[in-house]
Amino acid sequence: MAETMERISTTLETIYQRSYESEAPDLRSLYEKAKRDQWNAARDIDWSQSVDLDSGIFADELVDGHGSETLNRLSPKRFAELNVEFSCWRLSQLLHGEEGAMLACSQLVDMVPGNDAKFFQATQVVDEARHTEVLSRYLMEKCGGRIYPLTPNIRAIFEYILGHGKWFVKTVGLQLIAETFAVALFRMLADSSKDPLLRSICKRILADESRHMGFSVLSLPDAIKSLNPGEMRELEDFTHEAIKLVLTGQFPREAYEAVGMNSAEIDEVRKARKQMA
Ligand SMILES: [Fe+2]
Ligand SMILES: [Fe+2]
Repeated sequence: MAETMERISTTLETIYQRSYESEAPDLRSLYEKAKRDQWNAARDIDWSQSVDLDSGIFADELVDGHGSETLNRLSPKRFAELNVEFSCWRLSQLLHGEEGAMLACSQLVDMVPGNDAKFFQATQVVDEARHTEVLSRYLMEKCGGRIYPLTPNIRAIFEYILGHGKWFVKTVGLQLIAETFAVALFRMLADSSKDPLLRSICKRILADESRHMGFSVLSLPDAIKSLNPGEMRELEDFTHEAIKLVLTGQFPREAYEAVGMNSAEIDEVRKARKQMA
């Protein structure tokens, strides 16, 4: 069984803010929007819909290696099976990211200066809990519990984000890099998935994610201006490394294995995929 619990040590500075005048009106208004646009994953999603696992979940074009000779040789039935495994593998990566986001934001509530930012981060904790709830419920209830382990790359990014002691590093890692990539993917899934239930879930999540990216846009410029050269270099190195980790090494080997492809076939797909990229 894959490891499902990990302990990460961290040291963080908690700012116990006891001035209550709003000092950052743009962050305060983001907080107001967050309160206004809350939704309930248990009530606002139509969980009575069933998912047709015989036809696949994502659009076929989004399956890694689609169009390669190796995958073209699969029968339509086997390709649909691969589509389901791949979709669940990809959704599992997003799910683990949502859980990591919830943890990072709970740290940010402590760490960010000013109550406007703290209030907003408190709403993001709830948002990310809801995203974790909705994606895990989809995978457990509608996809036969197919939750795949997280890839080493995503694990490395979140271990760094969660273990680091500076709030702006967490915000660059989470709200600027990880969420930008997640939003691009959710947008494709909301537009193109075969499964209408997943499309509706992704649309709901997207509405929240735009606020989260908004937090980085509003809070980072001033924080970055005040960094010393050493802190700046560390942030640049991390940013460079994190983007590299997100863009490379996300190979869904377990999904191909789940439909019985052998390692020679999987290597063919890996090569074809590289060429197509
Ligand atoms: Fe999220
Ligand atoms: Fe988010």
